[in-house]
Amino acid sequence: MVRAAPDLPLTDNCHHYTRLQDVPWDIQKYWKGRYKIFPNYNNGVYLTDDAWFGVTPEPVASKIAEDIWMPDVSTIVDMFAGAGGNTIAFALTGYYSRVIGIERDADTLACAQENARIAGVPEGTITWIHGDCFAVLKDLRAERGQAQEEGALDQGPAAEEEGAIEPLDTARTVLFASPPWGGVSYTSQDVFDLSTMEPYSLQELHDACHPLPHALYLPRTSNLQQLADVLPPRTTTHGDAVSSSDGTAQEAEPQIRVVQYCMHGFSKALVAYYPAVGGPQLPDR
Ligand SMILES: C[S@@+](CC[C@H](N)C(=O)[O-])C[C@H]1O[C@@H](n2cnc3c(N)ncnc32)[C@H](O)[C@@H]1O
Repeated sequence: MVRAAPDLPLTDNCHHYTRLQDVPWDIQKYWKGRYKIFPNYNNGVYLTDDAWFGVTPEPVASKIAEDIWMPDVSTIVDMFAGAGGNTIAFALTGYYSRVIGIERDADTLACAQENARIAGVPEGTITWIHGDCFAVLKDLRAERGQAQEEGALDQGPAAEEEGAIEPLDTARTVLFASPPWGGVSYTSQDVFDLSTMEPYSLQELHDACHPLPHALYLPRTSNLQQLADVLPPRTTTHGDAVSSSDGTAQEAEPQIRVVQYCMHGFSKALVAYYPAVGGPQLPDR
């Protein structure tokens, strides 16, 4: 059973730096650009030192929150909530009845909760989960299947138990993932090899999300062929590869939308939007 995180306390690892001399040298360049990342920084944005490296700038997060929206989808899950950049932007759209943010580091999650408060997200709009997103996602999907089999969904959420989270309605859910970009630095490669991304490769991320519609926030130089290759080829209802009338195999139709998100003329990242298999489709923009 997956439970919502309580309000976590800010710790000594959570900082709202106001003076350059307090900022560790390796994040000073990010701190100097703090108002580009968080126009509301002075309201009391908190980050762990690590979170500076991965946080999505607010203007980019807001644009993604618009672009990811799909009719008939009521739940969005941010698998790597970090300090809340994207989760908060999703919540502020008002498009979703459920916004779920998963983060495995308690200090970072405490920052995200604080940042949501100061961004004006109404209390209770975001369900925060402290845990491993792969395990949580698996549980929330499996529980739905189990509840459906037992006919239990109409009897109110299993959520009657304190803090327990209602399983996902996968037909009305979209996933967003901004994983760590570890491994060989993407800045040292002309084309970033997504199979070497650490700790989670593109394939692992895609496997965890498929067949739900999902959007992956990745380095701007990501290998586009690899992004396409993780989609399975289209198959007939018998499971055969789709082929043309003369029997030759057809290429799978291109189905992914890839968007570069730029600020001040430079791409910050790309997002690969994968459609659902047999479910809600991403609209053309
Ligand atoms: C690139 S950051 C996400 C930044 C976030 N989009 C933001 O705007 O603040 C990646 C985050 O994923 C968290 N993380 C890494 N592996 C995880 C996992 N298996 N489950 C949940 N969170 C994870 C890290 O602690 C880190 O905070």
